[in-house]
Amino acid sequence: MSQIEVRELSKEFRQAIKKPGLKGAVQHLFTQQYRDKLAVDRINLTIEQGEAVAYVGPNGAGKSTTLKMLTGILVPTSGSVRIDGLDPHKDRIRNAQKIGAVFGQRTQLWWDIPVSESFSLIRDIYEIPEPVYRENLAIFTELLDLNDYIHLSGRKLSLGQRMRADLAAALLHNPEIVYLDEPTIGLDVAVKEKIRGFIKHINREHRTTIMLTTHDLGDIEDLCRRLVIIDKGRIIYDGELQAVKDAFARERVLHVQLKEPAPGLTEVLGRLPGVSLGEADRRAIESGGKQAAVAFDRFLISAGDVAGAVLRAAEIVDFRIDEPSIEQIIRRVYAGEIDLAQAAKGVS
Ligand SMILES: Nc1ncnc2c1ncn2[C@@H]1O[C@H](COP(=O)(O)OP(=O)(O)OP(=O)(O)O)[C@@H](O)[C@H]1O
Ligand SMILES: [Mg+2]
Repeated sequence: MSQIEVRELSKEFRQAIKKPGLKGAVQHLFTQQYRDKLAVDRINLTIEQGEAVAYVGPNGAGKSTTLKMLTGILVPTSGSVRIDGLDPHKDRIRNAQKIGAVFGQRTQLWWDIPVSESFSLIRDIYEIPEPVYRENLAIFTELLDLNDYIHLSGRKLSLGQRMRADLAAALLHNPEIVYLDEPTIGLDVAVKEKIRGFIKHINREHRTTIMLTTHDLGDIEDLCRRLVIIDKGRIIYDGELQAVKDAFARERVLHVQLKEPAPGLTEVLGRLPGVSLGEADRRAIESGGKQAAVAFDRFLISAGDVAGAVLRAAEIVDFRIDEPSIEQIIRRVYAGEIDLAQAAKGVS
């Protein structure tokens, strides 16, 4: 049995159809029109202990809804979730001992008392043995700079302080699984680094299972080997992050800055295998432009051959070669330009 087993899981929400304003609200009282929104649509997922899984997708894809069903906050419309064999909604108390969760948009700290007292309350609620509590607090203090703000009440924390305090709060009881819903949203680079380092630490040192949603794909490159992409409630990719990179790392883009216009360049490039020039760039070059981005497949032609061909046709002032970042790849997946499932099959 795997630690997390999700079978044909769906969640449908009933959304009220209201016209804007007070008039709309009053009208709705009488007409009561609704539409059903299938936020999560028959997903299957199996996660083993110690895995770090990135769960990504565009806004509204169903990520938070999935995490809420996994944590037991929401009841599925159909399908099942088993966490170590438990139903997280029915076995909420036992499940709570096993899991920690941070929803970046909300806090679980008490607003009016110092963070340190929130932590003591959590210790009491979860019945954390004193030595475990002390040890965790000491480690978290070091990794998350807790000393800077542990004496402040929840309401006085900056966003970055709050997020770090929330992470610590979610992990004080040594949960086996941690669900993180956008834990780095709105944070500066230094605090992001801290949080990534901390998540990495608990994943590596304690084999804590991590399921992480984020729009900052830097988070996932640092932390996760496995990537799951959800779009419109359906899982459209589940596999190694590296496989995605391998499939698309073959694409390179040569950016060139020409000294003089070279309208003939497009014809030269057109003759090379595996090279493509965007329509806008083609037009720009033909009408005397001095910049172009030339995409090429490095399995079909080397960077040297592409650069050489450009050099023979034009004088270059500057050039650079880009490889696609995971961010660009996933943006194209969201836009429907590439089919990852297909591409991943192609390389394996
Ligand atoms: N309580 C609710 N009632 C009605 N509809 C909801 C509710 N919660 C979510 N939805 C709808 O379900 C869909 C999925 O929402 P969800 O919050 O899971 O998306 P998400 O992938 O987390 O997006 P984001 O990246 O913006 O956080 C959206 O269309 C949303 O409007
Ligand atoms: Mg969300």
